[in-house]
Amino acid sequence: MIRGAILRDVIEEQHEQAPQPSAAGLAEPMRSRWSASVYDDRHRLTDTEVETLLRAAQWAPSAGNSQPWLFFVCVPGTANHDRLVATLSRGNSSWVPRASGVFLTAAHVHSGEDADAPAYSDYALYDVGQAAAHLTLQARSMGLHAHQFAGFDHHVLAESLGVPATHRLLTGIAVGVAGDPGDVDERTAARDHRDRERRPLEEWVRHGRYEA
Ligand SMILES: Cc1cc2nc3c(=O)[nH]c(=O)nc-3n(C[C@H](O)[C@H](O)[C@H](O)COP(=O)(O)O)c2cc1C
Repeated sequence: MIRGAILRDVIEEQHEQAPQPSAAGLAEPMRSRWSASVYDDRHRLTDTEVETLLRAAQWAPSAGNSQPWLFFVCVPGTANHDRLVATLSRGNSSWVPRASGVFLTAAHVHSGEDADAPAYSDYALYDVGQAAAHLTLQARSMGLHAHQFAGFDHHVLAESLGVPATHRLLTGIAVGVAGDPGDVDERTAARDHRDRERRPLEEWVRHGRYEA
């Protein structure tokens, strides 16, 4: 109980953006989760933290327990990190390298190497997204921020990581602790103060049949 209370205090201190008014009723760590872009590049994840984050993904539900995911760990100073950084889009190259680590996700989409091989699972993308969400929320509950991103050269990175033809490289999840906005360029610092908005429930919830 006490640990939970301390964690909540830490989370309260660290959120600069969340909760938005409509997120106020959510449980932690969903309430204070948001995609931070200013990271402290001196912070490092411990091996135990990396493993705990991966375990959150491991225990995500999946269709028929198929677990159709593959994760690549990219922490600064490793070849995987260099491979990732070399392929980042311009917008992402200003903030992703400062995170303490990035988890790249890939989905097992084809059951064989041939282009016409049947799908491995109709729900592979759904399941990998869910595993990514679990990792992201676990990070928040550990007092870390996580920011998912897809802006990198998928083809080049898949090649340099040796991703098999049966799999599709999907996203990165950058994880770290909040840094000093003074350490980054103005544009990157401003990203953490963007308005966070959501479509209203009425737009995408139906309590009966679909009506436009
Ligand atoms: C599949 C996916 C791809 C994304 N790609 C990028 C990206 O390339 N760069 C970036 O800065 N943010 C990226 N994001 C983060 C979203 O922009 C962000 O989650 C969204 O604006 C909502 O903000 P919030 O996470 O703070 O609530 C991506 C998120 C997802 C789920």
